[in-house]
Order: sequence, then structure tokens, then C-alpha cells
Amino acid sequence: MAKETAPAAEGKTKVNRREFLNLAWLASLGFLTVNVAGITYLFAMPRFKEGEFGGVYTVGTVGELPAVDSAPINIPKVKLWISNTDQGVTALYKVCTHLGCLYNWSDQDEIFACPCHGSQFNLDGEYIQGPAPRSLDRFVVRIVDPQTNEILAEAPNGEPLQVPDDPNALIQVDTGQRIQGKAHA
Ligand code: FES
Repeated sequence: MAKETAPAAEGKTKVNRREFLNLAWLASLGFLTVNVAGITYLFAMPRFKEGEFGGVYTVGTVGELPAVDSAPINIPKVKLWISNTDQGVTALYKVCTHLGCLYNWSDQDEIFACPCHGSQFNLDGEYIQGPAPRSLDRFVVRIVDPQTNEILAEAPNGEPLQVPDDPNALIQVDTGQRIQGKAHA
């Protein structure tokens, strides 16, 4: 007796090998495109938010600066000391350039002193003595117009920045741009 063959399911279309490979290739291409777009988006996003360490931090206005040669401002949130001398304003990184301890300001001696091995630095962050191989690291300081956000002055190499007479001008520090202090002999 002859065997009956089962009828093909109604409406079902067979996919041959070539069509299957084309579909698989297109699916892979789509997957790759989505991944590349996602990675590109992540890289394009700023890594640090404004006001956080690694981003731009607004210290305050020129009028809020400490008097010239007085004690510096301590800003632990963004790992900064802000000093104001007759050379200008400097933003110093809070970590000692010897082995990474947190140094302090001494009101009595008017120096930055590291509690770990005794390195000392002046108010501008310049090396005085101790095992630290260089002056304190610093960040780029900017003076910004409070109305337009235009940068009026900048110290790109971390040198003290002279501030303008305008007490309302903003002082900003780019904590994403750390500049190594000068090595001493
Ligand atoms: S870590 Fe500051 S002197 Fe050694």
C-alpha cells in the first residue's frame, strides 16, 4: 500500500539556506549597529558632572575670596585648597606629592604640612622641605563672567591667576585638568 505524504502546512513558506544566511547576516549587522551606537553615546556623554570632582567646580565669587595671604579655603568635596596670595589664586590638589597623604594647613606656621613624613609647602603650594619630590599639584583656575559665562581669564598651567576687580566675577576650577607641581632639585 502506497504511503500518503503529509500535506505542507497551509500558509507556511519554506526558507532556503541562502535566505536563512542572509537573514542571519542582517540580524548580526543590526545588533552590531545598535552596540556601536550605544558605545558612541556613552563616550560622547561627559564623564563627570559639573560640581563634582573631575568636573568644573564653581568656588564662588571674587568678592568671597579670602584676603591675600590669609588661610586658604578647604573644599573637601572636590579635594581642593584655594589659596590667595599677591601672585593670585591657586587651586591645589589635596594629596601630598610624596606618597599621597592628605596634608593640612597650619595656621600657626602658615604652611601646608603633611602629617605622614613632614613635607612642607607654602601658601602657593611651592615645595619648602621634606621628602616630597615636587611642589603641590594644582588645577586650572578660570575667571568667568557671571552673566554670559564667558571665560575672562585662565591659568592653563596651574600658575596663580590674578583676579579682576569685579567682585561678582566667578572663580571656577577644572578638577579634570590636574597639573603636576614643579620638581625641585
Ligand atoms: S606622604 Fe606627604 S610627606 Fe610623605
